[in-house]
Amino acid sequence: MNKIKHILRPYAKRLPGPLKQFLWNSKELLTYLYALNNEQLYFGTHLCANQLHPRRISDMEQTILRKLEEIKNRPFRLLEVGSWVGQSTFFWAQLLQRKIPDKWEIHCVDAWTSYASTDDLKNESRIKHMDKALHNGRAYKLFLHNLKVSGLSDKIVVHRGRSENILPTLTNNYFDFAYIDGSHYYQDVKSDLAYSTPLLREDGILCGDDLELQSLELGEQIQAEWLKFDYLKHPKTGVYFHPGVSKAIGELMQHPISASSGFWALKKMQSNWVDYLSINK
Ligand SMILES: C[S@@+](CC[C@H](N)C(=O)[O-])C[C@H]1O[C@@H](n2cnc3c(N)ncnc32)[C@H](O)[C@@H]1O
Repeated sequence: MNKIKHILRPYAKRLPGPLKQFLWNSKELLTYLYALNNEQLYFGTHLCANQLHPRRISDMEQTILRKLEEIKNRPFRLLEVGSWVGQSTFFWAQLLQRKIPDKWEIHCVDAWTSYASTDDLKNESRIKHMDKALHNGRAYKLFLHNLKVSGLSDKIVVHRGRSENILPTLTNNYFDFAYIDGSHYYQDVKSDLAYSTPLLREDGILCGDDLELQSLELGEQIQAEWLKFDYLKHPKTGVYFHPGVSKAIGELMQHPISASSGFWALKKMQSNWVDYLSINK
């Protein structure tokens, strides 16, 4: 397969953009169908299955490894809010299985139902694709497929439902680590942060992604108009960001925190939050 890719690459470069896109999409569709029929994990571009930014992975890994050192021999319990088709779930799961085989569990909370705002559905093509995959059930089906073929399903608990309904039913002071990556609209992020807080043990880590810009860093308020969108271009800086995440984290912390390609992490210490990425260095 790699040999064929190598031979075709110089020709592919010369193709017009739309044709190149069509061929790429066709290749991804075939890879997805092949994975479904051959018990393989799939996290390619079809159905926007690929959600993890490669630049963020090393900080995610360092953060969880550091936390693993802190907890020593206790079983490790991770909460994930927003799992989509499982790329982040299986990133955590495979790492935990390598480091502390069988002494971990992951709880996934996801509704796998449409959640995009009407403004986003009008404008954002990636959001439209994701919404369609939620609507026709393909995202959930691919999550279940990935779960089955991962061989780790006995350690992964799936809670299907809206996070504001599921999180209050989970046990307080239970989790060592909570990864918040559900809806990025302000009210939802705020609610996920609030409901996850009591679920974490003292010294537990609250983390998430998509914190590209911080209102406190910019020295300006997140405008109400921006909050209708999951993701948009900041008018002054030109940086793409998630206004709901920026506002919710800004309110929680009241000062800028460290973020690595959008990944952020806080440690719960005596009812306060400490910026875990900055004390990590
Ligand atoms: C950005 S995706 C998660 C990506 C995933 N963490 C990854 O890296 O592969 C957001 C997910 O949040 C879920 N979601 C959105 N709003 C939700 C809500 N109120 N309750 C539960 N899940 C929600 C969506 O169904 C979607 O699967």
